[in-house]
Amino acid sequence: IEETLVLVKPDGVARNLTGEILRRIEAKGYSLVDIRLVQPDRTILAKHYAEHEGKPFYEPLVEFMQSGPVVAMRVAGNRVIEGFRVLAGTTDPTTAAPGTIRGDFGRDWGLKVQQNLVHGSDSVESAERELDLWFD
Ligand code: GTP
Ligand code: MG
Repeated sequence: IEETLVLVKPDGVARNLTGEILRRIEAKGYSLVDIRLVQPDRTILAKHYAEHEGKPFYEPLVEFMQSGPVVAMRVAGNRVIEGFRVLAGTTDPTTAAPGTIRGDFGRDWGLKVQQNLVHGSDSVESAERELDLWFD
């Protein structure tokens, strides 16, 4: 069975949306395998976001991700990697489709980083790498 890493980012935890996000994952039929509340440090975030190093939003992103606790979830189901990214919606919450997590609960707050509530792995390779990173 395929597995993915879902993160409820600091904005989602602070806005008490963790339950709503998990509700949508479970309502879709995916299964929660493991969950933990983490205060991520720079080391784990540098590994998690290695592909974005050097981009203009990298520093604000790493700072934002350390601004409060994050909920990490291991979620399982056939095609869950692709399926969760559809549930999440596109990266920019202003234009993410209504009905998606980002489209229903996110918007542009005028900050340097897009606060878009959730992260989901984008391929089998990144899911394996990210699950090893957040759940050893
Ligand atoms: P994740 O599931 O969080 O990885 O989102 P994603 O796969 O939809 O986006 P991506 O991996 O490309 O970028 C990671 C995160 O960096 C995003 O979720 C945003 O928070 C932020 N980000 C990405 N692109 C931009 C951008 O063009 N501008 C700004 N300000 N932030 C960005
Ligand atoms: Mg990504």
